[in-house]
Amino acid sequence: MRIMVIGGGGREYGIAKKLSEDPRVDKLFVLPGGGGMEEFAECVPIKATDLEGVCGFASENEIDFAVVTPDDPLAMGMADRLRAMGVPCFGPNKAAARIESSKIFAKELMKKYGVPTASAVSLYSAGEAREYVNNAELPLVIKADGLALGKGVFICRTREEAEDAITELMDNRLFGASGERVLVEEFLEGPEVTVLSFTDGKTVVPMVASMDHKTIGEGGTGPNTGGMGVIAPNPFYTKEIAAECMERIFLPTVNAMAEEGCPFTGCLYFGLMLTKNGPKVIEYNSRFGDPEAQTVLPLMETPLLDAMLACESGDLAETPVRFSDKAACCVVLVSGGYPGKYQKGLPITFGELDEKTLVVHAGTKRTEDGYVTNGGRVLNVIRVEDTLEEAVRSAYEEAEKISFPGVYMRRDVGKTAIDALAERD
Ligand code: AMP
Ligand code: GLY
Repeated sequence: MRIMVIGGGGREYGIAKKLSEDPRVDKLFVLPGGGGMEEFAECVPIKATDLEGVCGFASENEIDFAVVTPDDPLAMGMADRLRAMGVPCFGPNKAAARIESSKIFAKELMKKYGVPTASAVSLYSAGEAREYVNNAELPLVIKADGLALGKGVFICRTREEAEDAITELMDNRLFGASGERVLVEEFLEGPEVTVLSFTDGKTVVPMVASMDHKTIGEGGTGPNTGGMGVIAPNPFYTKEIAAECMERIFLPTVNAMAEEGCPFTGCLYFGLMLTKNGPKVIEYNSRFGDPEAQTVLPLMETPLLDAMLACESGDLAETPVRFSDKAACCVVLVSGGYPGKYQKGLPITFGELDEKTLVVHAGTKRTEDGYVTNGGRVLNVIRVEDTLEEAVRSAYEEAEKISFPGVYMRRDVGKTAIDALAERD
């Protein structure tokens, strides 16, 4: 098969690497791809948001199957366009991608179908939003309706913070049209869980649950980032909670989308909070998470391609999808200054790495003198081991061997999870 993967970060590296190991894949393209991917795929310099370019490439290169993973091309309707050309795709069409591209759409859906989530109101102007937050209970959460690189969520503990968030989103349009409308949401508390799932629009097959570490600082401090590290499985997500989520959240969501006339196919990402009143949805994404994908997929024992093809053909119920019971840890090495301004083009030295270590390139570039930094999140160091403790310990041991000027990593990836396990024993 001739396959193309759209995107160029660590998530696409993880997905493309896994697909490249499948003997059925004769030719693998990544558009635009990034550093490191040239080892197992052909990188083609066409941007993920260039619909015309991607579709033209697909028809000229006889692509049999396309994997569309980033949020913006999905929200722009890339999967619709490819399917219309006769290219089957992994990824939702534009109408279904609204589950991520409009937080108001997602919230209305959950309200209508009784999916547990934080209570919220949708506000359509800065005046309306200010009036609402002046009388609302604190803390509260303000979210841009549209896509904002994971940075459109403001946890406000004071009225001033709420005021500032409204000014930034709605007056200053920090994220452009994404801030035309906002959601003001109840503040929830509890451990967070990410559940990535395969779905063909009818059946939902959850992958191993994981835990992202979103803030730049240790212990959940500082601004949010795209993700600083992941562990899987997530020890807070017990079998009982998983069964409850399937019954009250996963199936109702997929059925609701079908009922609304926009069945969701591809990877549906459930961002959950395990509150004292049960699991609640804090966000849906219409795609694999980054760095959750590259952490969870190494645990997958059945072919990724089979699951992806089944999401498109509608045969997911009959397709075996199995994960190992090992544990994985991913530590993200970022550029100094990220998630703010940072420098690019700095030389990376890798040291003597253990052959069991997976190094995922998230933002690097190959030059004649070796790899240099080319993004905020630069590299992911991933280890799969029998226990979570061992996965965390060895991922850090290996991450320490890699360096570039200004390199930063959080030192506490997996800490809450390991503490929770210790408390349980
Ligand atoms: P999101 O981009 O929607 O995943 O939000 C980013 C982070 O904000 C989440 O991972 C949570 O830690 C936090 N968050 C989002 N919504 C809420 C909420 N209703 N209550 C508390 N924290 C939230
Ligand atoms: N790691 C969170 C996300 O991909 O949205």
